[in-house]
Amino acid sequence: MRCYMKRVALITGGARGIGFGIAKCLAKENYNLAVCGRSGEESTTEALSELRKSGAEVLYCKCDISDSESRRNMIDKIKENYGRLDTLVNNAGIAPSERKDILDASEESFDKLISVNLKGPYFLTQLVANWMIEQKKTDDSFQGKIVNVTSISSTVASVNRGDYCISKAGLSMTTKLWAARLGEFDIPAYEIRPGIIQTDMTSKVKGKYDKLIDEGLLPQARWGYPEDIGKAVAMLARGDMPYSTGCVLTVDGGLTLERL
Ligand code: NAI
Repeated sequence: MRCYMKRVALITGGARGIGFGIAKCLAKENYNLAVCGRSGEESTTEALSELRKSGAEVLYCKCDISDSESRRNMIDKIKENYGRLDTLVNNAGIAPSERKDILDASEESFDKLISVNLKGPYFLTQLVANWMIEQKKTDDSFQGKIVNVTSISSTVASVNRGDYCISKAGLSMTTKLWAARLGEFDIPAYEIRPGIIQTDMTSKVKGKYDKLIDEGLLPQARWGYPEDIGKAVAMLARGDMPYSTGCVLTVDGGLTLERL
């Protein structure tokens, strides 16, 4: 097993969208990277080579975060390849395949969303937290960090995607739980709460949000970009908020600002 001097971050869903924005920012912070996604490595070649050009070593893991064996295999692969893990970014997530009024929405969609957006990151964190505790016990200077990417949907009710809102609200509680549990090891857990970010996930509803933004939905009248989230994660991964475990960083252009 090799042991690297450079810090290592695992970003789930790191080859696309917000995750890719995060991966680019962490590469600039001199991290080596592990990124995972549902698809095979061949579909991520371009993204991975862009990350490698910025000087990071990048390990790709095909992994379904909702599956326990798949999560375990990924962590074993990271252990084998890097021998350390300093920052976990639980970014991967899915939207409902179709938005449906909660009067009609299906249990199948609910189970899927909970499984990927909540159960996956919760148990991946459990696996990583145990490894981080081991790392801390053998090296007191080790500084682990957990970052969960939730959504303004953690607190804003959208009645045509209740399953998504509930999964993200659960992930917000997950951050609090791990922050409380890992405090004694000085491993902070943070929540990043994005607003409307331009990615494949929001491409189907682009027209709707273009119009709402034009009509004044946001104090900062533009779409968010993956790098907006990446910069916030980079700040946390750099260690710039060491005494703020459990905190929520809202990155939404002021969408959830109360206004009169
Ligand atoms: P995206 O659809 O562009 O990318 C999602 C990534 O997650 C992909 O790389 C995909 O392979 C990976 N992924 C999905 N299911 C997975 C699974 N079961 N196992 C492993 N990887 C899986 O989505 P986007 O927009 O980049 O979203 C990233 C995160 O940010 C999600 O958790 C999403 O809920 C959240 N978010 C997105 C917002 C937006 O406006 N785009 C707003 C608020 C939160």
